[in-house]
Amino acid sequence: MSGDRIAVIAGDGIGPEVIEAALAVLDAASRRFGFTLDVERLPYSADHYLATRETIPDAAVEHLRTGVDAILVGALGDPRVPGNEHARDILLGLRFRLDLFVNLRPVTLLHPSLCPLKDPAAGPRVIDFPIFRENTEGIYVGAGGGLRVGTPDEVQLAEEVHTRKGVERIVRYAFEWAKANGRTRLTMADKANAVPAHRLWGRVFAEVGAEYPGIAREHRYVDALAMELVREPERFQAIVTQNLFGDILSDLAAGLVGGLGISPSANLHPGRAGLFEPVHGSAPPMAGKDVANPFAAILTAAMMVRELRHLDAADALESAVRAALAAGVTTPDLGGKCGTKEVARWVAERVTH
Ligand code: NAD
Ligand code: IPM
Ligand code: MN
Repeated sequence: MSGDRIAVIAGDGIGPEVIEAALAVLDAASRRFGFTLDVERLPYSADHYLATRETIPDAAVEHLRTGVDAILVGALGDPRVPGNEHARDILLGLRFRLDLFVNLRPVTLLHPSLCPLKDPAAGPRVIDFPIFRENTEGIYVGAGGGLRVGTPDEVQLAEEVHTRKGVERIVRYAFEWAKANGRTRLTMADKANAVPAHRLWGRVFAEVGAEYPGIAREHRYVDALAMELVREPERFQAIVTQNLFGDILSDLAAGLVGGLGISPSANLHPGRAGLFEPVHGSAPPMAGKDVANPFAAILTAAMMVRELRHLDAADALESAVRAALAAGVTTPDLGGKCGTKEVARWVAERVTH
């Protein structure tokens, strides 16, 4: 029996280290739960780009579209490529070209000590909500350009794109998720008071939401939502928003539950192979020092195997990370003294037994 076909783009900076950690833990999970992952490593990265001037070839994108079951990405971004063109082509390129319109970024407090906020009077905090970030539109479409570049009269234009179909599919996905997961409220964030184009979000949210009578609709302007997320994160059940706001809010929310070192994500289109990546970037100053936190990548791997329907393995990976947190087996960003490899070994061992 052949296994799930996993394409791996480890990428730059700490990407390769956290991906090695995730693959080691996945290997343990696949042995324990009796499935096979056929891992194919792809070279696309800053190194590859600097050596060949190739970001990601069309043939590779086609292969990822039709010949794999999931894509696992480390991180892309390197100071030797200051224009970030390889990362845009590879990361944003794959999100757009594979039409992975859902960027699911779970925000879950896995251990009370990870929340930097003071404890509320009512006891320990429970923070557990996904951010559904629209992943194929907004200001990320790259429409625009520069005029008189490099002169005192320079002008730069970047157009935001919101289509009825694009907004509707992410909003519907978020409502469906809320319904399937027993949530009773969905929060939508825009900036329609300043940007009239965002009113499309409000109209679609109301129309689609009317089909989900069990789920209360809540609207917030994104600036106010940022404030509320810090003051009372436990009241959020699920959030849906446009591409740029989802990018920013997901880092803010990561900060409420332990930071980027522990925040996973999935780029999805139902029925197609998804792309799974930590929310964090390549953290160039940490690279090669065995200090990067592998939890984000391991939890990302858990999202991947959950999507591949290896539910026991996904549960085991998540509970092994919780156990590591409870045992204080963590990297320095979470206050621990362990290295990347040591944490990965501990988690793999835990998954095995
Ligand atoms: P970053 O996520 O790389 O780092 C931001 C902060 O988080 C740093 O303080 C870093 O030390 C910390 N951090 C991140 N991951 C960590 C981990 N696993 N363990 C411990 N600490 C961790 O963001 P940045 O510094 O803004 O960007 C660096 C490069 O990464 C840039 O080129 C950027 O474009 C790129 N980037 C790529 C992705 C991606 O590939 N998905 C995401 C974000 C940023
Ligand atoms: C992310 C990153 C990317 C984004 C960058 C690297 C282009 O910040 O995945 O959150 O803005 O989407
Ligand atoms: Mn980001």
